Amino acid sequence: MIRLFRPTFDVDACLKELKECLEEGWTGPGFKTDQLEAEWKEYTGLNNAYYVNSCTAALNLTFDVLKERNGWQDGDEVISTAITFVSSNHAIMLAGLKPVFADVDDSLCLDPADVEKRITPKTKAVLFVGLSGNPGKYKEIREICTHHGLKLVVDAAHMAGTKENGKFPCQDADSVCFSFHTFKTLATADSGMLCFQDEENEKLARIKAWSGINTAAFSDYAVKDHKTYKWHYDVPYVSNCYNGNSIMAAVAIAQLHCLDKNCDLRRKICTKYDAAFSKVPQVKTVKYDEGVVPSRCHYQLIVEDRDGLVKFLNENGINSGVHYVSNINYRMYAYAQGTCPNSDYMSEHAITLPLHLQITEEETDKVIEKVIEYVTK
Ligand SMILES: Cc1ncc(COP(=O)(O)O)c(C=O)c1O
Repeated sequence: MIRLFRPTFDVDACLKELKECLEEGWTGPGFKTDQLEAEWKEYTGLNNAYYVNSCTAALNLTFDVLKERNGWQDGDEVISTAITFVSSNHAIMLAGLKPVFADVDDSLCLDPADVEKRITPKTKAVLFVGLSGNPGKYKEIREICTHHGLKLVVDAAHMAGTKENGKFPCQDADSVCFSFHTFKTLATADSGMLCFQDEENEKLARIKAWSGINTAAFSDYAVKDHKTYKWHYDVPYVSNCYNGNSIMAAVAIAQLHCLDKNCDLRRKICTKYDAAFSKVPQVKTVKYDEGVVPSRCHYQLIVEDRDGLVKFLNENGINSGVHYVSNINYRMYAYAQGTCPNSDYMSEHAITLPLHLQITEEETDKVIEKVIEYVTK
């Protein structure tokens, strides 16, 4: 079977980083996590970085912290996309806020014109998802948010490795949330990074991410300075446990060191797919703006009979996927049915093809051949 995703690790580099944790006798937050956060800030150019146990955690913390620090009320609105993994929209709901869906454009990301139409007096923020690593029309969304005084949150789950002018593109977002889930461009097992623009937001996130405890007990516990664990703390919040740990951070550090090389390889495979599919009028490729160097987390095509193609590929030993079914199709978000026709269309017609670092030339040749065979029959 040609696999859709397959995480690849530099095993020796991972083991070297992991060995340091095990020899130091430190696997929790505060050792390798500190190193990873420093390296991530350097790599992305973002102001702050807090290593958490998933992108879901980063998103949940983002809306919780922004609501608290900006005095938002229950039922206030966040404009979001339906073409995403549900945890993007769950994060809004979990904070007691309401996702208001705007439609996507041909980048499968939010359409700025439609975002503007959804703004009401209750709108507090926009959640932009850089689907498959594509920054889409982020800059226009940024202008809309600035104009209307809205916060801008980026779900960058697919964007580790995306660059514009050598840096991560969404530098001026209020919060950027990355995923280091096993099928993402920087694969660990499960973890993520929360990057707030405002340091005070990050400080609150660090409290809320460790059961609401108001002291950096873990960082003082760090092995390097051998301080004593602090138990004289207060607990001003009822909160979850969202910390990242040093074992996972060790893997992430090794992965970060080869992220650019790995994304180059992804882009090479996508260039081959693009060249083949651009000659076939029955399929549409997803467009990226000039100057953007996308991470290429997924390779997606828009086809007429998507479900038929998924079945045909499967019968021919090729896994494929869907990123994503419109969240409006799910019971929790059904209140928005009929509001986003392009999202409905993409939900039924977009297919994700195999893309990973161990895919062979023969395998990509076969994927191309079978897709073309089906769509031209
Ligand atoms: C767009 C998007 N947002 C958020 C997430 C959640 O990421 P994590 O698995 O790290 O919690 C995912 C994961 O699939 C995703 O694809």
